Amino acid sequence: MTDYNEADLQQKAKDHLWMHFARQSVMEDGHGVPIIVKGQGHHIWDSTGKKYFDGLSGLFVVNAGHGRKRLAETAAKQAEELAFFPIWSYAHPNAIELADRLAGYAPGDLNRVFFSTGGGEAVETAFKLAKYYWKLQGRPTKHKVISRAVAYHGTPQGALAITGIPAMKEMFEPITPGGFRVPNTNYYRAKEMGFEGSIEQFGQWAANRIEEMILFEGPETVAAVFLEPVQNSGGCFPPPPGYFQRVREICDQYDVLLVADEVITGFGRIGNMFASTTYGFVPDMITCAKGMTSGYSPIGATIVSEKVYEPFKHGTTAFYHGYTFGGHPVSSAVALANLDIFEEEKLNENVRENSPLFRAALERLTDLPIVGDVRGDGYFFGIELVKDKATRTTFDDDESERLLRGFLSKALFDAGLYCRADDRGDPVIQLAPPLTIGPAEFDEIEGILRGVLTEAWSRL
Ligand SMILES: Cc1ncc(COP(=O)(O)O)c(C=O)c1O
Repeated sequence: MTDYNEADLQQKAKDHLWMHFARQSVMEDGHGVPIIVKGQGHHIWDSTGKKYFDGLSGLFVVNAGHGRKRLAETAAKQAEELAFFPIWSYAHPNAIELADRLAGYAPGDLNRVFFSTGGGEAVETAFKLAKYYWKLQGRPTKHKVISRAVAYHGTPQGALAITGIPAMKEMFEPITPGGFRVPNTNYYRAKEMGFEGSIEQFGQWAANRIEEMILFEGPETVAAVFLEPVQNSGGCFPPPPGYFQRVREICDQYDVLLVADEVITGFGRIGNMFASTTYGFVPDMITCAKGMTSGYSPIGATIVSEKVYEPFKHGTTAFYHGYTFGGHPVSSAVALANLDIFEEEKLNENVRENSPLFRAALERLTDLPIVGDVRGDGYFFGIELVKDKATRTTFDDDESERLLRGFLSKALFDAGLYCRADDRGDPVIQLAPPLTIGPAEFDEIEGILRGVLTEAWSRL
């Protein structure tokens, strides 16, 4: 492993590096920032040589695991052959092959692929395309978009209008108009949303809130609904049985496009190339990014149905939208090789087979007084922390600050587990490890969490 000068790097970071979604004050305060220098399999190392379990696949990205020489070599070979060419009126073989591959994986007739460089751009693309599609249908007032409370869909101002987290938006207001929010599928908190009943009934109730919003706003003004198959922000909300079937029905009834934001759930996270397949529905568009290359090079895509694509087949109509690096030759080549690895190593099958064991390992933690709920699907789980299990009382802002920011994130990291303690909704620990792991690693994750959560409780 390369030797790093920790003090020199910390000083340069402090002087020049602006982190994302982070308090720069940690640099100013002299705490410094963890500097990650190497990855192999499901492990990462910091610049002091300490090893960690990567419980979040970087950021829901490194699905095939770190240190894949084959992917590095693919990138190098492609950079030598053709490092860059745009897909603005031109094409190159990798973008063509990858578009074909993604169309093959996508459900239904989602056959047309518009590349970008990441998830937020894929969402932005879908938003613009939805508005344009309805204008081309002679229904120009259909421009509003519906999404769910606490959902995260990216940071461009259009995608931000779809994001349902007020605290991430208020400093940038006014953002793109037209975003409307409906309840998410957090069954653990259903009562607080005014619902009581079975999970199946909850699914219908939550889906019907979308119909209600379409009617409140007027169907002739609504362009699209954006939903993650499993909502990440707020701590892993899988869809109740029948939810997406009812949503599809509503969207068809009112001529509203259904966009599945699969930026996290795509590429094996839920045991299939797309979670839309897992949950048995066909959206009009899929947005995806992260796991497509397992992070070895950046890329995003918006995969579009034949219906939405149809007006673009003819005459002078063009989608005046794009990104210089969209469908980058190196990233496309890496994506193809990464997806080959998925098939050869049967990563989706591994997730499907082992997900119940992962869940069972995490559910053992429910014997701890601080663990209120364990939820998720595939290799994607959230553990909700509570102050009182019986009443499901959550922590106030001050406790949340002390517990999550002040103690948990750092304590988990110090104990050798990189994951995320999140309070964009109620306080949760999020886990999304590489798809290569199995039962021994689930036990290891449980062991680390048990120790740290026990200590967290004693500090409250
Ligand atoms: C569901 C979802 N959509 C969009 C995005 C934005 O993706 P990016 O950070 O690549 O722009 C994310 C990022 O985490 C996401 O989770």
